[in-house]
Amino acid sequence: MKGKLFKLLLLTCLASCVVACGKVAEVKELTIIPEPVSLTQQAETFTLSSPMKVSLDNLVQDNATVRYIDQSMRKMHLRPSFVNDGETGAIILSLNREPNSEIGDEGYTIEVSHSNIQIAANTEAGLFYGYQTFVQMLPDDVSSTAYSKITIPLCSITDYPRYQWRGSHMDVCRHFFPVSQIKKHLDVMAAYKMNRFHWHLTEDQGWRLEIQKYPLLTEIGAWRVDRNDEDWNYPRNPEPDEKATYGGYYTRAEVQEIVEYAAQRHIEVVPEIEFPGHCCAVLASYPELGCRRDTTYSVAVADYWPPTAIMCAGNDSVLTFLKDVFDEVVDMFPFQYIHVGGDEAFKHDWQRCPKCQARIKELKLKNEEELQGWLTAEVEKYLISKGKRIIGWDEILEGFVTPSCTVMSWRGTEGGKVAARKGNDVIMTPTQFCYFDYRQADSLYQPQAIGKAFRFNPLIKVYQFNPTPEELSASEASHILGGQCNLWAEYIKDTKHQEYMLLPRLCAMAECLWTPVERKSWEHFQNKIEHHKDRLTSMGYNVCWGSFKPIISIDTVANGLNVTLTAEELGTAFHYTTDGSEPTEASPIYSGTLLLQQGDTLKTLATYRNEVREGVYTFGF
Ligand code: ACM
Ligand code: ZN
Repeated sequence: MKGKLFKLLLLTCLASCVVACGKVAEVKELTIIPEPVSLTQQAETFTLSSPMKVSLDNLVQDNATVRYIDQSMRKMHLRPSFVNDGETGAIILSLNREPNSEIGDEGYTIEVSHSNIQIAANTEAGLFYGYQTFVQMLPDDVSSTAYSKITIPLCSITDYPRYQWRGSHMDVCRHFFPVSQIKKHLDVMAAYKMNRFHWHLTEDQGWRLEIQKYPLLTEIGAWRVDRNDEDWNYPRNPEPDEKATYGGYYTRAEVQEIVEYAAQRHIEVVPEIEFPGHCCAVLASYPELGCRRDTTYSVAVADYWPPTAIMCAGNDSVLTFLKDVFDEVVDMFPFQYIHVGGDEAFKHDWQRCPKCQARIKELKLKNEEELQGWLTAEVEKYLISKGKRIIGWDEILEGFVTPSCTVMSWRGTEGGKVAARKGNDVIMTPTQFCYFDYRQADSLYQPQAIGKAFRFNPLIKVYQFNPTPEELSASEASHILGGQCNLWAEYIKDTKHQEYMLLPRLCAMAECLWTPVERKSWEHFQNKIEHHKDRLTSMGYNVCWGSFKPIISIDTVANGLNVTLTAEELGTAFHYTTDGSEPTEASPIYSGTLLLQQGDTLKTLATYRNEVREGVYTFGF
């Protein structure tokens, strides 16, 4: 249901309650993100019992999802007390005995009546998502609210996802992030029903995964000379013998901790181990795996472009290395998919390398692109024999690609369309909607981000993402598994900045990947996100508040110019002057269209919740 229609119905309900009860009921419009498939809300409420009663139907208390829910409630100081079936006032968690075919493997239903809240699903994942929706219905200050004041609107929800792949990617190589931050990322993914964590673990600037058979990958490859105080694009060259002090890696025990933490939240961890390019850290550790003997490979200190370091595809020990590494990766990561990279593999060295050229000849390959195709196919064959499936960035289409390989389309959607038409599965992650290293508001008031003016992905742009291109037939479209946001970390040095780039855009991405297109509404989302920005802040995340920049529209009319101001951030107030003076908080506040004349100057100062935001913008007419 579109936002306006929903509001109309809700107001009608509230109005009837005013008549029935004789006083205005305090029922807030639910602001669930992602928007459920169907949601009807009434103007009356259920009040939590004290202590909060929870009953289990077709579930045991020792069930992993029930344990998660129990802990999560305790963290909110809700102190659940498990009671027998059917007690009035209880929250009933149900695993359906007869599967509900409408909601599938990840869907759920919620019925909130005067006597109970019932969350039901066919699977634990569905129950988990139903619980996340329930959490969003609670007041933000739930921990400090008396039970008798915690009310939930009576409502009925049926919900299930549009896509099976709802991913969020994190680059931990350009800058390194601790286990605690990865858990925080997984928590926020789970809150918004995202289910694939794409963990970018190997790069030119650092190898981040302990591999027992190749200890130098982390003794050498995980560390680089520290240039964190310098511009990423123009780092000073390392001094001779300068120590590599910046970096870090994840031990096997830490990986296990993260995989388990993710699994408790119904998130699959997809490790990315890049080859043949983006491999300075590998070649710094094991130089014999490169094509060249006339160079010293080192872990890149910052910007490294073009990334010409490449593993030698003509050298049998490279395939042995990759198989050994993937043996350990398979042991550590239980999910079926492994990402093998494959992007931006510059092949200058392959063109000059006798071993690579001999391999091309021996296999009767057409060119170096096909050599990458061959190497990828060899690794894929090995991983399939271990029950795994591979994903590669869309460059892998340039050589040849096996039908079983899943393509991650990042250079726009073209690669994804080509792959889907060939019958390959596809994950859509086109830069122009999904790259969260792009800035999200005016660069004058944002931390440094990748690129300049054209790399701009504000919330509204992310919200327009539709992973399935309209040109695909139904059978081609069935190969689009879903999409994901990608958070590259060249410019992101610390956890606060990382959260700032992720949020609230992750919320928009979650709605694009879960909610049916016809249920999406930017206006409704814009209202909901106001609440979620506060909610995320109170959960301890550093959230970007969006853009306070005036968006101006000018209409020429008989007696002058009608000038209208809006902003992406709904609560923005504009103080303004038209006499050329600098506006201050004492200047009048814009409250509707202004009538100005040619030659006038309009200056605005944005405030939000009584705080000055961004700077003064000047418009001459
Ligand atoms: C990529 O952004 N190079 C996949
Ligand atoms: Zn070579």
